Amino acid sequence: MTQHKITLLPGDGIGPEVTASVVSIIECSGVDVEWEKFFVGAEALARSGDPLPGEVIESILRNKVALKGPVTTPIGTGFSSINVRLRKTLDLYANLRPVKSMPNIITRFENVDIIVVRENTEDLYSGLEHEVVPGVVESLKIITEKASTRIARFAFEYARTHGRKRVTAIHKANIMKLSDGLFLQCFRNVSKEYPSIVADDKIVDNLCMQMVTDPTQFDILLLENLYGDIVSDLAAGLVGGLGVVGGANIGESGAVFEAVHGSAPDIAGQNKANPLAMLKSAVLMLHHLGEMGPAQRIDDAIMKVLDSGPEHRTRDIGGRGTTADFTTAMCETLRKGTRTSD
Ligand code: NAI
Repeated sequence: MTQHKITLLPGDGIGPEVTASVVSIIECSGVDVEWEKFFVGAEALARSGDPLPGEVIESILRNKVALKGPVTTPIGTGFSSINVRLRKTLDLYANLRPVKSMPNIITRFENVDIIVVRENTEDLYSGLEHEVVPGVVESLKIITEKASTRIARFAFEYARTHGRKRVTAIHKANIMKLSDGLFLQCFRNVSKEYPSIVADDKIVDNLCMQMVTDPTQFDILLLENLYGDIVSDLAAGLVGGLGVVGGANIGESGAVFEAVHGSAPDIAGQNKANPLAMLKSAVLMLHHLGEMGPAQRIDDAIMKVLDSGPEHRTRDIGGRGTTADFTTAMCETLRKGTRTSD
């Protein structure tokens, strides 16, 4: 059995609780991991003077994979977001968010199964803003051929390696003819390399309307940074919200897997946090590491546990259980074996 060395950043707030839960569940699934654990955020600042110490970056560059809990970002003053610093320093250009309906999480639609791929490095998030004259500001939207081509290739490669049939590029090229026009052109160029995958496109406002009327029609969505930020949260809302959706930030130098939610200071340390979003991120991580069997067993166990009664689900998704109850139920289910072939 391969042993994986993985950087572990538990974060703060509910981060240590949900990461501890996920670490136990991965152990119960039989994957052999040596965790390299580091503090980030306020705790790291107090210990070393930097909320994102250099040794963390070195560890991720060495291991190529990190599992990260949420980190509180001070509002107004204090250090800047370590999430943004991590993405920039490691050039984690692809944000991946699979959004799938789950049993016993009551939502408006069933059978939602969408992969949202978001470009993570440019667009209106380039941070290029200035005041032209008092009362007039300019915010620059940067779209490059290089970044648009690599994210389009990422989406098609994901489709190819995960048996997906269709990639839909989302844009507003009817208005932003140059910037969104370039993004769309790059998508179309890359699509020619993947003749067996359907490539089409939609204008972003039309996409939003269709997502809330029939999200089951979509497969992989490919978006620029800002549209991706908004649409990925909308998509999460369709299957139960941020507490149940995992995510990843992926680049050439490494990949950081993390839940989408924050550090939830209101429930921290109370054994109430739902580890599901973190666990879904860990499942993505196991796929990335080639551990398809354990990833599938954990996914199957999630379905079973969510279906097995409110005492095994946390309160945010209508259950009566604690973080520990969910973790124990997952480990018991994994030990018993969840697949008919087991
Ligand atoms: P939040 O996601 O932490 O909390 C929003 C609401 O959702 C709260 O009521 C919370 O109790 C609930 N919630 C969140 N995750 C939950 C879980 N796993 N189980 C059960 N309930 C859950 O968002 P908020 O309050 O805006 O942010 C708190 C802090 O987290 C801020 O400092 C923010 O900057 C940081 N943050 C960090 C992120 C990261 O490190 N990736 C992402 C988003 C926010």
